[in-house]
Amino acid sequence: MNLKIGVIKGDGIGPEIVTEAMKVLDKVGEVYGHTMDYDQLLMGGASIDVHGVPLTDDTIRRAKDCDAVLMGSIGGDAKTSPWYQLEPDKRPEAGLLKIRKALNLFANLRPAVLYEELKGACPLKEEITEGGFDMMIMRELTGGLYFGERKTVEENGVMTAYDSLTYNENEIRRIAKRAFDIAMKRRRKVTSVDKANVLDSSRLWRKVVEKVAGDYPEVTLEHMLVDNCAMQLVKDPKQFDVILTENMFGDILSDEASMVTGSIGMLASASLNETKFGLYEPSGGSAPDIAGKGIANPIATILSAAMMLRFSFDLDAEADAIEKAVAEVLREGWRTIDIMSEGKNQVGTEKMGDLIAGHIA
Ligand code: NAD
Ligand code: IPM
Ligand code: MN
Repeated sequence: MNLKIGVIKGDGIGPEIVTEAMKVLDKVGEVYGHTMDYDQLLMGGASIDVHGVPLTDDTIRRAKDCDAVLMGSIGGDAKTSPWYQLEPDKRPEAGLLKIRKALNLFANLRPAVLYEELKGACPLKEEITEGGFDMMIMRELTGGLYFGERKTVEENGVMTAYDSLTYNENEIRRIAKRAFDIAMKRRRKVTSVDKANVLDSSRLWRKVVEKVAGDYPEVTLEHMLVDNCAMQLVKDPKQFDVILTENMFGDILSDEASMVTGSIGMLASASLNETKFGLYEPSGGSAPDIAGKGIANPIATILSAAMMLRFSFDLDAEADAIEKAVAEVLREGWRTIDIMSEGKNQVGTEKMGDLIAGHIA
C-alpha cells in the first residue's frame, strides 16, 4: 500500500521526535511492504520564518491532498522567541488552530494508558495505579473558547478582554456520537465533563449528550463537573473509560492525565473529521526548554503514528506492531529522562527511536 503522509516537523523538539516516528514508520513499511510517500509541510514558527505566517493556503491544500498528516509540535518560548512579537493571529499557535478548523478536525482522541512498565514514573501511589488504567479523552477541538469571538477594548480608561465560549447542538452532538461509538468498542462507559453548575454552554452540552446516550443503551453515561474530574483523575484514574469534554477542559485534563501515565512525552493524539483523514501529533508542546538536546521522549509521536495507521489506513496489525514494540522497549528497561526511574537505562531521543524501530518484526 502507498501511504501519502503529510509531515509537519514543527518547532522546538518537533523535528527531533518526528524524525524518530518516521524511522519507525519506515521500518513498518519495510517489514509489511508499504511505501511511505511523505510530503514535508511547514507550519508554526518554521512557517513564519519562511513565509511570515504560521500557515499558508499551500500547506492546507497539500495537507488535504494527503491521506493523513503526522505532526510534531509548534511554538516557542514566549519570552525570548521573536514569533511572540507578532500579533496573536500571526503566531505559531494560530497556525495550529487554523489547520484544525480548515480540516474540520473536531474530534481529538487522547489515549492515556499507564504501561505496567512505567509505574515507577507515575507520581501516584502504587495502590491507586494497581492494575493500571486505560482511558480515552475525547476532546472537542473546533469549538468553544478557542474559536469564539475575542476582543480587547478600552472602556473608560480600563482595558477589558473578551473570549466567548459558544457551542451549538450540532457541534455537541457529533463529538458525543463519536465518544459513544468509541465507548462501544471499549468498556462502555462515558464520563461527560462540564461545568453545568455555572455555564449555559455546559447545560446545553449535558442535554445534547443525554439525548445521544438514548441511542446507546449499552453505554453507561455519567456527568461530572470539571473541577471534580481534575481531582478524580489523580484520586482514582481507573474509574474512567471515555472522558467526553469541550475544547478547553480537554486541553487541561489531557495534560493532567498524561502525567499520571508518567509523562507528557507518552500521550499520543489523533484529530479526526468525518472522513478517514486525520492529523496525528503528540499532545505535548515544542518543549523549548529541552529542544536541541536530543533528550525528548519520542514515544507520544511514535504512538500517534500508530494511531494514524489504525484510523486513517486501517492497518491494525502494523499499528499493533508499533504499540507492542514500545511496550517491549519499556519492558527491557530503556527510558528517556522524563520517564526515568531507578535501575533503568537512560537513552536519548534517537536511541529510543532506534530501539523501537528495531523491535518491529
Ligand atoms: P510543553 O508541553 O512544550 O512543555 C511542558 C514540559 O513538558 C516541559 O518541561 C517540557 O520539557 C516537557 N515535555 C514536553 N514534551 C516532552 C517530551 N516529548 N519529552 C520530554 N519532555 C517533554 O508545554 P509549554 O512549555 O507550555 O509550551 C511550549 C510551546 O509549545 C508553546 O509555544 C505552546 O504554545 C506550544 N504547544 C504546542 C502544542 C502542539 O503543537 N500541539 C501543544 C502544547 C503546547
Ligand atoms: C494542544 C496545545 C494547543 C491547544 C495549543 C498549542 C494551541 O496545547 O494541542 O493541547 O491548546 O489545543
Ligand atoms: Mn495542550
